[in-house]
Amino acid sequence: MDVIPVELGGRSYDVTIEAGLLNRLSAVASGYLPSADQAIPFVADRNTHERYSQAVSASFDAVGRKLEWFIVEPGEGAKTWPVLEKLTDWLLALGVTRGDHVFALGGGVVGDLTGFACAILKRGCGFVQIPTTLLAQVDSSVGGKTAINTGAGKNLIGAFHQPSAVLIDPLTLDTLPDREMGAGYAEVLKYGLLGDADFFAWLEANGSKVIAREPAALTHAIATSIRAKARIVAEDERELSGRRALLNLGHTFGHALEAETGFSQELLHGEGVALGMVLAARYSARRGHLDDGDAERTACAIAQVGLRSEITQLSLSCSGAKLVDHMRHDKKMEGGTLPFLLLNAVGDAFLARDVKLDDVTAFLDEQLACNNQAEF
Ligand code: GLY
Repeated sequence: MDVIPVELGGRSYDVTIEAGLLNRLSAVASGYLPSADQAIPFVADRNTHERYSQAVSASFDAVGRKLEWFIVEPGEGAKTWPVLEKLTDWLLALGVTRGDHVFALGGGVVGDLTGFACAILKRGCGFVQIPTTLLAQVDSSVGGKTAINTGAGKNLIGAFHQPSAVLIDPLTLDTLPDREMGAGYAEVLKYGLLGDADFFAWLEANGSKVIAREPAALTHAIATSIRAKARIVAEDERELSGRRALLNLGHTFGHALEAETGFSQELLHGEGVALGMVLAARYSARRGHLDDGDAERTACAIAQVGLRSEITQLSLSCSGAKLVDHMRHDKKMEGGTLPFLLLNAVGDAFLARDVKLDDVTAFLDEQLACNNQAEF
């Protein structure tokens, strides 16, 4: 068992990683249960509910506790005002009070939705994250970012609201589709690339074991990622100093690609981040910050686990200008400029505030042209 503290003064909490944890959840979560006469509120998506509700319910049955489930459809469609309204109404009807905890069992969608509902319910009640995807385990469940989407964009309505605990059972990844495993792996690699060259090198050597869910490698990758995230969040909980912004490495380029592909199954978020990290590395090399060799090393580390590392692998028919137009709607735009995460070296990211979007357009045109040539 690994226990990783997230040090945030009065909002501190632990992330617990333990294979088989779900089967003994009633014991692990005993500090977060409402009074004995009350049902325990669980939020899950339909798939996660089908997969784990029996094991979870059995664990609580054994100690005489009853669960109530709020089940949402899988996918981003659950991060909307109507679902949020239904969820908060359901929590109010259950009589959840400020001192109570709601359990979020699932991927990032369930965690973000439940966390935001708990941020606003009676001006804030507790919640416990039980992430069941690699991406949620190493990123979204830790750090307190909660949100829903609106017509104007993703995650535009939300709050910082820290969970009281994050409980991770790596065995849940055994049934995760391989494609989602790869998407989560991109976020793991991100921690190496942004601040830990040794971890990056370890992933170059052991990435395939992580993807294959070899227990020791998988737990090491999850725990190292969470330690890195916990350190950064403790330094800059509300993304004010620029430190937490490092976690957005690859996200600006990646988000533009996600927008161009319509936030569809063509490109999962983590897959966009993977391509975005390659573009950030190559753009860093173009500006003279990073060796060309390290930019290509980044592309290789992504390609070697089967993730797409070239934009030609997407069926895009757009210009650099079109991709940059998507960036102009980024919520990080400030006074007409967009801060970019770039690299000085593998393991050394920095926030550049002097990037000209025209230069990014020219770079993306080169990448698109270079990829087009590669196809002939
Ligand atoms: N996923 C980026 C962050 O938590 O800040």
